Amino acid sequence: MFGFGRKFLVGSGLLDGWVDLHSHVLWGVDDGARGENHAREILLELQDMGVARHFATPHIMGQVHRNDEVALRAAFDERMAPLALELELDISLAAEYMLDNSFLAKLQAKHELLTLDDHRVLVELPMADTGFAWDEIFSKIEDAGYRAVLAHPERYSHLKLSDMMLLKERGVELQLNILSLSEFYGHRVQGKAFEMLAAALYDFVGSDAHDARMAEHVNVIDLTRSERKHFAALMERSRGLLS
Ligand SMILES: [Fe+2]
Repeated sequence: MFGFGRKFLVGSGLLDGWVDLHSHVLWGVDDGARGENHAREILLELQDMGVARHFATPHIMGQVHRNDEVALRAAFDERMAPLALELELDISLAAEYMLDNSFLAKLQAKHELLTLDDHRVLVELPMADTGFAWDEIFSKIEDAGYRAVLAHPERYSHLKLSDMMLLKERGVELQLNILSLSEFYGHRVQGKAFEMLAAALYDFVGSDAHDARMAEHVNVIDLTRSERKHFAALMERSRGLLS
């Protein structure tokens, strides 16, 4: 992809002060970090890239990762607090909620969710279209007093650019996975991510880190001058929204 006018993202300074609102660094609760040493390795790598503020966002899924808020808080306080002190991390706990029936039940029961700030909630959809009426859930999230931040919209094969625009109009915020700008998830996702970046559809950038060695993929991301401009604006907006 490297060509005239393109510059590598890493080393551009654009990642400095990154507020990474999506990661799976709390170990032992989902498919992310496998232990304390692994979490340390991932967090150090993220710090090296420029992350200044971290969020640990374990999966909460009815079927696979049956985490609940109380247990996650306890795990975070017990395991992450000492590591945060050791690495001098600014790290908070939130969660990545799968929009499924168990999430819907929580909303209906007015269950208190793990949020990014006082009202933003990070959510994800199944990767493929399961026929689940996910679009109605966004209204229900809003009615419950929350604002949805949709994780990695570029990765859902069933969502077109026009769908993203509709979601934005409904007040849903969109979070880019940094690795989507590389070939990590394939060319299709990469193309969509660049298209959405150019259309200024994103509000946040997350690492969605499950493992270390992200740098080898992030290191090859290169951007044109106009993409750098869009990315800089996105990083700035993202910092402001969660400050
Ligand atoms: Fe995630």
